[in-house]
Amino acid sequence: MTSLPLLGSGRNADVFAIDSRRVLRRYRDDGDVAAEATIMAYVGELGFPVPKVYQADEADLVMERLDGPTMSQALIAGSLGIEAGGELLADLHRRLHELPPRLSPDSSVRILHLDLHPDNVILSQRGPVVIDWRNATEGPPDLDLALSALILAEVAVDEEHDLAAGRTRC
Ligand SMILES: Nc1ncnc2c1ncn2[C@@H]1O[C@H](COP(=O)(O)OP(=O)(O)OP(=O)(O)O)[C@@H](O)[C@H]1O
Ligand SMILES: [Mg+2]
Repeated sequence: MTSLPLLGSGRNADVFAIDSRRVLRRYRDDGDVAAEATIMAYVGELGFPVPKVYQADEADLVMERLDGPTMSQALIAGSLGIEAGGELLADLHRRLHELPPRLSPDSSVRILHLDLHPDNVILSQRGPVVIDWRNATEGPPDLDLALSALILAEVAVDEEHDLAAGRTRC
C-alpha cells in the first residue's frame, strides 16, 4: 500500500505521483518491471520518446512524470483530429522500428511495443511520449502494426466507444 496520490489506473497497474518530476507505476499482480525498464532505457538512449526510468524493482517502476492528456483524451476532446492522430501513431511506429534490435543478430528484427494505441501515448510538453512497455519485445515490425490496427478496429466496431464515430475517416 502507498499513501501517494493516484494519478491513473490501467488494467494492470496503478500510477502514483511521487512529486512533480516522478511517478511510481506499480503492478497490481506479481509483474516484474525489469524487462520493460531495460527496453525503455534502451530506446530512450537512442532518442525514442519514453519516460526516463529512475528505478526498477519487481512490481515497481519509478519514472519521469509526464504532464498532458493521453492521445485518447485529446481525440475525444477534439483537440487532436482523427487524421492527425493516425499520422502521429504511424510516425511513432516508424520511429520505433527504425531502431536497431537490442539482442537479435537478425537485422530485420526490430524493437516492438505491442500495445501502441492512443491510451498509451501521452501528449506531453516535450511532445508525444509512449508509455506502458509491458509487452515490449523484439520481432517483426509488421506484428506491431497489425496489433495496433487490431486494437483500433476493436474501437471502431464498438458502438459504445466515444471514438467509434471517426471510423469512416481512417
Ligand atoms: N510517466 C507517466 N506520467 C504521468 N502519468 C502516467 C505516466 N505513466 C502512466 N501514467 C498514467 O497512468 C495511466 C495508466 O498507465 P499504464 O498505461 O502504464 O497502465 P496499465 O495498467 O499498463 O494500462 P493498460 O490498461 O493500458 O494495460 C495512464 O493512462 C496515465 O494516465
Ligand atoms: Mg496502458
